[in-house]
Amino acid sequence: MRGLSSLLKSNNIYGKWNQLTTKASYCTKPETKQWPRKIVSGIQPTGILHIGNYFGAVQRWVKMQESGENVTFFIADLHSMTMPYEPAKLRENIYELIATLLACGIDSKKSPIFLQSTVPQHAELCWILSCLCTMPRLSQLPQFKEKSAQVRDVWAGLFMYPVLQAADVLIHKATHVPCGEDQLQQLQLASHLAKLFNNRFGETFPVIKPIIGQDASGRIRSLRDPTKKQSKSDPNDKSRITLRDSPDAIRKKIKRAITDFTSEVTYDPTKRPGVANLVGIHALVKNVSPQEICNEAKGLDTGKYKLVLADDLVNLLDPIRLKIEDYLKNRDYLEAVLKDGRDVASQTAETTLKEVKHRVGVNIL
Ligand code: TRP
Repeated sequence: MRGLSSLLKSNNIYGKWNQLTTKASYCTKPETKQWPRKIVSGIQPTGILHIGNYFGAVQRWVKMQESGENVTFFIADLHSMTMPYEPAKLRENIYELIATLLACGIDSKKSPIFLQSTVPQHAELCWILSCLCTMPRLSQLPQFKEKSAQVRDVWAGLFMYPVLQAADVLIHKATHVPCGEDQLQQLQLASHLAKLFNNRFGETFPVIKPIIGQDASGRIRSLRDPTKKQSKSDPNDKSRITLRDSPDAIRKKIKRAITDFTSEVTYDPTKRPGVANLVGIHALVKNVSPQEICNEAKGLDTGKYKLVLADDLVNLLDPIRLKIEDYLKNRDYLEAVLKDGRDVASQTAETTLKEVKHRVGVNIL
């Protein structure tokens, strides 16, 4: 009887991969191949984005897109099933998120954008990677500890969350992943799995690099408690400004934002976190430094200053809000965008998965 490897060797379709596999089974050090720069990132459909998500993620994505980078974005719907959720709400959140991304300037002609669950190769690669990943490694990740503490039943999906995240980027052979600081450990796991895979099966994946940038989302605090991050999951809706807030709602939230008893406008995040948060938001809105904001606000007390900030926020956000509402009226269009994205993403994903299956020894047919 002929062995598997000689059978594969006789099969020319896999000639190229087979050569690499054979070499790899003896190699301990991966070859250091130069991979073409490719940016991939995802965002969960867990409710309308707030300005922290906008400045921290989406605006940065749009800038990368506009600078001519090779970018691919996706909506991480499978990740949103790892915590308790309502199916009808998830479906609605997906429409809302694609509408929001387009309204913020993601251009599906330049950046393919797709829904994770429509490219099943993500989940398949997740399984293969899970067979390279130990349970202690996953249980030590800070996001797992944090999230599992919030629920009574910890689903295996929550445990596997970071493996799926690794598959998300590796299946597209991403070299760079823009993300928030809170995602760092998860992306380290992705790099770790890429190295492990390359070592064991031959060089297949780039070892991805996170791009943290200035991480504005980490600096935008809750309007009700500036010691906390502005968060989608904060039960108090007045703690954050979302991309669907009306001008009236934005003005009210800014007016009621927690400050302190000093009337001057200064930027001191430690001693005056509430005022510094507003100045920090304003600096992002106007794309200038916090100091410039303080200089411009000279002579205003915090109450009057809030009115100026609210106006600038409304000017930035209202056109986005109106576009979101328009896109949401045209669901066929939103679905067409996601279908186009799926078609593009599936091709790359399928090519990688074929290669991976061959390398791990299961691609027989
Ligand atoms: N975990 C990310 C978040 O909550 C979303 C995400 C899923 C992601 N897969 C990804 C981000 C891959 C970057 C790359 O924000």
